[in-house]
Amino acid sequence: RLFSKPKLGLVAALLGFSLTAWAEPVEIKFSHVVAENTPKGQMALKFKELVETRLPGEYKVSVFPNSQLFGDNNELAALLLNDVQLVAPSLSKFERYTKKLQIFDLPFLFDDMAAVDAFQQSEAGQSLLNSMNRKGIVGLGYLHNGMKQFSANKALSLPADAKGQKFRIMPSDVIAAQFDAVGAVPVKKPFSEVFTLLQTRAIDGQENTWSNTYSKKFYEVQSHITESNHGVLDYMLVTSETFWKSLPKDKRDIIKAALDEAVVYGNKLSLEKDIEDRQLILDSKRVTLVSLTPEQRQAWVDAMRPVWSQFEEKIGKDLIDAALSANK
Ligand code: LMR
Repeated sequence: RLFSKPKLGLVAALLGFSLTAWAEPVEIKFSHVVAENTPKGQMALKFKELVETRLPGEYKVSVFPNSQLFGDNNELAALLLNDVQLVAPSLSKFERYTKKLQIFDLPFLFDDMAAVDAFQQSEAGQSLLNSMNRKGIVGLGYLHNGMKQFSANKALSLPADAKGQKFRIMPSDVIAAQFDAVGAVPVKKPFSEVFTLLQTRAIDGQENTWSNTYSKKFYEVQSHITESNHGVLDYMLVTSETFWKSLPKDKRDIIKAALDEAVVYGNKLSLEKDIEDRQLILDSKRVTLVSLTPEQRQAWVDAMRPVWSQFEEKIGKDLIDAALSANK
């Protein structure tokens, strides 16, 4: 070695720049499965911009969209191995780590996104951010996408219309039970496979937000979308305890503040995209919109509502009551 570190520092100081300028920035990898023109895709890019502006040269954020780096089947395992430092899976994808988050999958639990937000911000909702701490996963916040709609190659107006139809679902036993309740066939598959499964008719339908259905072109390979708003698709931003604790407190605070700001940005966008992407899909004229009458919607509620009691014990009645109280 030519110079010891203190000597290098002295040389650098004499030359008028600091050692940190020489060091490689710490890389924060943020992997996700959706497209960039989505609330999560844009939130991730906003986070990158904020961190790199506030901690220039010290931290850099690399964003990997579209399941490029990790997908549904391995992103949480990769997080625990510190191969990625930040992921934001949908709340339906944490079942292996906690049963508590199953609450978000109960069909027809939340009236709208305002209720979802109120519950997430409540004491009960905030405590769920810590529900996976013992597994080494730290919840840093929630991010919205929107309410889910059903899509298929036929009009789904009544629960009986879904009978025998194969639906791709996220890996959630509650969502599986929701489709079982109407005699449909739920198939757990990663998000990255949905388009091809629909296109090849290996599955008949799926449920998703307007944003995901638009950005991944599912509407091009489905004939009907039922505007059911039957459930929520939101995210939890998670990191590993290993990575989070490795950060110096002052940097961690700056990174957390950047994340919170990026979430505010993403949430605002989620409301806009929900309306805009719905309209873009309708304007494309590639699918027929099925609007439910109050009676038809009630038939879906009646058919799916028994799922609540199936999972009440695991989720906790208190938590369900807390969620219900968020409906105005
Ligand atoms: C899905 O798998 O349908 C969604 O969770 C994808 C996403 O991250 O929005």
